[in-house]
Amino acid sequence: MRFFLLMMGMVVASVCFAEGIEANGIKLQWEVVSNEVVFALEAPTTGWVSLGWGATAKMKDADYLIGYVTNGNRGVIEDHFGVSVTGHRRDTDLGGIENFRMIEAQEGNGITRLVFARSLVTKDTYDVPLVLDKPLEVILAYGRFDNTTSKHAVIAKVKITLKRK
Ligand code: HEM
Repeated sequence: MRFFLLMMGMVVASVCFAEGIEANGIKLQWEVVSNEVVFALEAPTTGWVSLGWGATAKMKDADYLIGYVTNGNRGVIEDHFGVSVTGHRRDTDLGGIENFRMIEAQEGNGITRLVFARSLVTKDTYDVPLVLDKPLEVILAYGRFDNTTSKHAVIAKVKITLKRK
C-alpha cells in the first residue's frame, strides 16, 4: 500500500509498505527508509494500539510504541520501556526521551491506525535497537481505552525480518 505525506498541499515523500503481517486482528506493515523504520499499525479498537520488540520475559525490557487517536485524526504516541514482566513505563518518566516520530493517525469505523517512524539505533538507554536482516520477535497489543495504562484486550507475538529494499 502506498501513502503520501502531505505538507502544504505538496507531496513531499511516500512510503510503499512492501511487507506486512496480521495476527489476532492486528495489522503491522513496515518499510526501512534510510536509517529509520516506518511502521503502520492498525487494530480493531477505538482505544490504544501498541508495538513492542526486545522483550526478554513477557513484557520485560521491550521497547514500546503505545498510541491512540482522538477526534478521528489527533494521534497521541508514547515511547515506553518494559520495566517488569507485566509492566511498562514511559521513557520520559525513567529519564529517557521520546524517540518515535508520528506520521499519520486515523480512527474510524472502530479501527485505529497509526503510522510512525523510529531510528534503527537511538542513544536512549530505554530503547532497543532495530536490527536488520534477522528475525525480530515483535509483540502487538491493543486496549479498549485511550489510556496507555489500561491493560490489553488482545495480544499477539510474531517474528518479522526488517530488510532494506
Ligand atoms: C498498559 C498496561 C499493561 C498491563 C497492565 C499489562 C499486563 C500484562 C499482564 C498481567 C500480562 C500477563 C498475562 C496476562 O495476564 O494477560 C501481560 C502479558 C503480555 N503483555 Fe501486557 N500489559 C500492558 C501493556 C502491554 C502492551 C502495551 C503490550 C504491547 C505489545 C503488551 C504485551 C503483552 C504480551 C505480548 C504479553 C504476553 C507475554 C507472554 O506470555 O509471553 N502489554 N501483560
